[in-house]
Amino acid sequence: MQSAFMRNNFAVQSESGLHVAIIMDGNGRWATQRGLPRAAGHRAGVAAVRRTVEHAPDFGVRRLTVYAFSADNWRRPSAEVQSIFWLIRAYLRIECERLRSAGVRLEAIGRRDRIPKGLLSEIERVESITAANRKLELRVAVDYSSRDAIARACAGLPESASPKHVRAALDASLSAGHGDVDLLIRTGGEKRLSDFLLWESAYAEFHFTPCMWPDFQPADLDAAINAFRARERRFGSVPAIASVPALQIGGTRWLR
Ligand code: FPP
Repeated sequence: MQSAFMRNNFAVQSESGLHVAIIMDGNGRWATQRGLPRAAGHRAGVAAVRRTVEHAPDFGVRRLTVYAFSADNWRRPSAEVQSIFWLIRAYLRIECERLRSAGVRLEAIGRRDRIPKGLLSEIERVESITAANRKLELRVAVDYSSRDAIARACAGLPESASPKHVRAALDASLSAGHGDVDLLIRTGGEKRLSDFLLWESAYAEFHFTPCMWPDFQPADLDAAINAFRARERRFGSVPAIASVPALQIGGTRWLR
């Protein structure tokens, strides 16, 4: 999302609000540290999702994408996979009315053909009920792989497609002009992307925190966004102050 606040003369992002993406890591360790089953960590993780969604608009977030289940998470024990799906479904059922009245629009990203039918119908129900909302776009990534999304965006292209056509197809399908991530947060201490929003994060700022996802509080989001706002985002350009006319020293003109 292009927004436009100014800092130290550098034009940086966002006229309509930030796109924050979160890799919600650490649920399992949070539970294990307390002698609880991993599913209890995911349950506590849902409470953190609820808090984050409620407070995100207060901090200037217009789009929030959370990684709930990656395509590689199918490798987990079936009971854990089922508990995550059950929790996402319960969250949607319980929160639907609150999301609707708070102006939150829900959208799921990722494959829809492998997830349980009950979860899929709940997703579609909440997507349809909240479709007109504009205050916050909540995107939940379920059975999501960024590499797959990139491959699928190119799937319909003819073999003769030029790099320019491939680029246009990717821009249209993945970013659609407003999908770029401004700030990507990963909790749980690891510093990797895990196949999440690879294309959309080309110019994202990254915030890695050791905080386990169930412990993540609105104040942590606020702090991450404040740190983000203090950064210079140049998008490959130079600071505005450096683009003044060349410097004349003696007979030589120097580029600054
Ligand atoms: C990663 O922690 C977390 C997940 C794979 C699941 C995330 C799911 C939720 C927070 C619940 C449902 C979400 C929504 C949107 C309602 P991990 O299990 O890999 O933790 P670990 O690294 O400590 O083992």
